[in-house]
Amino acid sequence: MTQTTSEAFSLLQQHAQRLADQSLSGLFRNDPKRASRLTDDVAGLRVDYSRHLLDQDGWDALFAWGEAAGLSAAAERMRSGALINPTEGRPALHSALRHRGCAEANDVAEAVSETGDRLAAIAEKLRAGHWRGATGEIITDFVNIGIGGSDLGPRAVVQALSRPDQQPVRVHFLANIDGAAIDDLLAGLNPAATVFCITSKSFGTRETLTNASSARRWLLDALGEDADMAAHLVAVSANVQRAVDFGVAEENILPMWDWVGGRYSLWSTVGLPIAVALGAEAFESLLAGAAAMDEHFFTAPLADNLPMRLGLLGAWHRNLQGAASYAVVPYANRLGLLPSWLQQLDMESNGKRVALDGAPLPQDSGPLVWGGVGTDGQHAYFQWLHQGTSPTPVEFIGVRDPEHPFDEHHRQLLANLLGQASALLHGRTEAQTREELLAAGRSDEDARRLAPHMTFPGNRPSTIIMLERLDARSLGALLALYEHRVYVQSVLWNSNAFDQWGVELGKTLALAVEGHLSADGAADAESELDSSLAPWIDWLRR
Ligand code: F6P
Repeated sequence: MTQTTSEAFSLLQQHAQRLADQSLSGLFRNDPKRASRLTDDVAGLRVDYSRHLLDQDGWDALFAWGEAAGLSAAAERMRSGALINPTEGRPALHSALRHRGCAEANDVAEAVSETGDRLAAIAEKLRAGHWRGATGEIITDFVNIGIGGSDLGPRAVVQALSRPDQQPVRVHFLANIDGAAIDDLLAGLNPAATVFCITSKSFGTRETLTNASSARRWLLDALGEDADMAAHLVAVSANVQRAVDFGVAEENILPMWDWVGGRYSLWSTVGLPIAVALGAEAFESLLAGAAAMDEHFFTAPLADNLPMRLGLLGAWHRNLQGAASYAVVPYANRLGLLPSWLQQLDMESNGKRVALDGAPLPQDSGPLVWGGVGTDGQHAYFQWLHQGTSPTPVEFIGVRDPEHPFDEHHRQLLANLLGQASALLHGRTEAQTREELLAAGRSDEDARRLAPHMTFPGNRPSTIIMLERLDARSLGALLALYEHRVYVQSVLWNSNAFDQWGVELGKTLALAVEGHLSADGAADAESELDSSLAPWIDWLRR
């Protein structure tokens, strides 16, 4: 008889209680093959999920929860274009941008391939030096103006895969509305040789439109009011009309669609900066890597399905171990923006408080995502990870083959990754610590006094994800793995991973405040001033 989700969850709670008495070190002692048994290779990624306090019975109970929650059916709902974003009445078809089967099943293959061709043509024209500015100069710089999903994905991929000195066209990203950002950027650019790409799904995002207006003004001031803006402005949007109204030539507008969420959109025309920086072929490889992960997600049985396994594991930590956050630590400098990309992906998707039917969620939903590159983090927050009072799962990401000639650096880098994972796992007892202090020549009294401070509790979980190499294909698979994991968790929590109403209120209030801050201030402002803000408005207008 199949279990209900609450029955499966209660059983899982019993396993969590049973396992609470065990230790990770003990699990490895009892099963020397544990590490290889709990490591999978999928789409160029090797994932080790042995470092979690779960034995086979525990995993089976997790799989039973996943089955009761209907994870495989949920994957099929995504593939077949069901309305899995019900509050916005849309499917979530980012997989259709890279997975032919999904595109065909949803009748979007033609649109996807046609816009893909247009994207490639623009990118290659720029890269070949055939795109000329209004005064005939070859374009040397391409600036993507966009924020959130219209920035983080392409920015993270370009940082991961391109060598700035090898870009035929330099690619820059402008997101923040802070005037300092555009001021610094423009200082290094030649208007006659710069193309701006205004990337905004809605073409209504204040930051992007303000930056785009200032960029256009800068171009017109430098090149003359009559300069041909078609030579300098490109747009990517699901609202083509708004882009036209802004003044972008229609032939320079690459469409995207409502069925691609902003934070899932780097695979769409939003990926134009990637193709400009790396070439259309590399962009295709990125899509192919993601497609391989899609195929795995749509077809692998639950217990072998990597996004499902990792999704269940994350929910285990959140709902059964009380972890409020997880840290993602790439031991790959070029993956430095991965934590920021993942932060939007995961937190905008699963930072939810109500279920699909609007009822308050009975359990916690998505955790806080944070992190940064190793080894730098080791000299900052790793103290907290090892000895702090809130055990927190860590995701280590590494790359096996370096793409640089500094082999000694790479050996040390990987040794640090593995060493840190082991320290979290095994820790060091107080008795061991005391012995080590004595062996190092410390007095009895010193050893007793210092040992508690130098003890590591261990038993702290981590996952290791290793890419064979940091190339477009593996990166595509990694990013798609995270996307699917986020969806899997929303299914477990019965919430919507594809809307983001939580970002709206602050935006609306900022607009109201803007009126009060303007030159003629309060007289102009239509809205009543919030009394908590009145002293600030007063002070700022002084
Ligand atoms: O922050 C809210 C948000 O709507 C994100 O979901 C989105 O990625 C970002 O703003 C940018 O939106 P747009 O692409 O419409 O400018």
